Amino acid sequence: MIQTKNNQLYIEGLSFKDLADQYGTPLYIYDQAALEKRMETYYNTFTSPLFETKVLYASKAFLCKAMVKLAQKHSLCLDVVSGGELYIAKQAGFNMDRVYFHGNNKTEAELRQAIDYGVHTIVLDNLDEAKRLVRLSQNSTKPIHALLRINPGIEAHTHAYIVTAHIDSKFGILKSEIDTIETIIQTCDEADNVIFDGFHAHIGSQIFDPKAFIAEIETMAEFIATLQKKMERTFSVLDLGGGFAAYYTQEDAPIPIETICPLIVNTCEAMQEKYSLSLKEILIEPGRSIVAEAGYSLYTIGSIKKTPHKQYAFVDGGMSDNIRPALYQAAYRSDLVEKMDQEKKETYCIAGKCCESGDILIERASLPLAEENDLLVVYTTGAYGYSMASNYNALCIPAIVFVKDGQSKLVVRRQCFEDLIEKDMEDPV
Ligand code: LLP
Repeated sequence: MIQTKNNQLYIEGLSFKDLADQYGTPLYIYDQAALEKRMETYYNTFTSPLFETKVLYASKAFLCKAMVKLAQKHSLCLDVVSGGELYIAKQAGFNMDRVYFHGNNKTEAELRQAIDYGVHTIVLDNLDEAKRLVRLSQNSTKPIHALLRINPGIEAHTHAYIVTAHIDSKFGILKSEIDTIETIIQTCDEADNVIFDGFHAHIGSQIFDPKAFIAEIETMAEFIATLQKKMERTFSVLDLGGGFAAYYTQEDAPIPIETICPLIVNTCEAMQEKYSLSLKEILIEPGRSIVAEAGYSLYTIGSIKKTPHKQYAFVDGGMSDNIRPALYQAAYRSDLVEKMDQEKKETYCIAGKCCESGDILIERASLPLAEENDLLVVYTTGAYGYSMASNYNALCIPAIVFVKDGQSKLVVRRQCFEDLIEKDMEDPV
């Protein structure tokens, strides 16, 4: 929880200033209590008398061993998309029977690794992959479950969604490609060690409109009903993906978890009846909506510089720790953590230290008068910040600190210069 006392900003009872003194900046700070609350809310509100329900945390949003442990503690399953994510989950001791492996081009090595680890489900993307899985599953000691990713032809972006959009997506198989879909299912059904359970869809990220999810469920239900009839076979699992929005700026009004989960469940129950489906299990895969608002980035301001039309405040990080403004024009809020009661009468362009004109974190930030060494917090940086961080300009990736009940814990140490050359082999040809 965030609080202001005597002009200072606090998180879970600790001042940002003290955290900066103890761990240095730039720094990723996560409110562990907030993370846990969100996981708990998902777990408690995504329930149904008709279906088994599973909440898969989409680990691409933010992954480190401490986060995996929290997901395990709160009985979530895990969505991973690479051998690397799989490895981190395994190293953190996550129960592999709760892991779902996604991705449009899982390599042979990654599929082997998944089978070896004993992951629960492979979410197939295409026919080549289905054949690859069937071949590799022959060496598996236990059967492996499979879902197929369908492109339902619904694309949702922020405040609007469009039906029958993006038919050329690289993900999944278009729902109208019935022949290919049937071949994939038959390929799995003929294999001894593969159990084909059903379908997966994911319609986008940072979605505000609940109608988009309702349209997704209705479309998938109709699709499953058609296939059920055509193949004379039932399907037990429907995975609806993630995409639930987070609050970044005042323009954002995300659907509360307590609202969206029952809405999804109720729609699935209604569709089960309408189309006489045989679904036994429904899944969702929230990433951003669990971690975004629980995360904060803390920076130290270096120089302030005026140009004819702008006033820059330079910080000691930038696009290397948060690429989202440069990549998606994503907007963020910020504060000077030791000047909380002061009037915000200045406008700054918050820029990072990378050699790139686009390295801007906030185009127009309203702040009190900023000076060298002021500490600046950027809110809602918990999703796709650390997970998309880079070593551009050989900047070191910041440390991650979790805070809860007045205590802080370093969960990922800051990179050091030695890390930057650790993989180098030195001698050229
Ligand atoms: N499931 C699947 C299959 C996905 O592709 C994704 C996100 C999720 C779940 C989780 O979606 P979420 O609940 O986090 O919206 N880098 C972009 C976001 C890319 C999302 C990719 N897929 C960003 O920073 O906005």
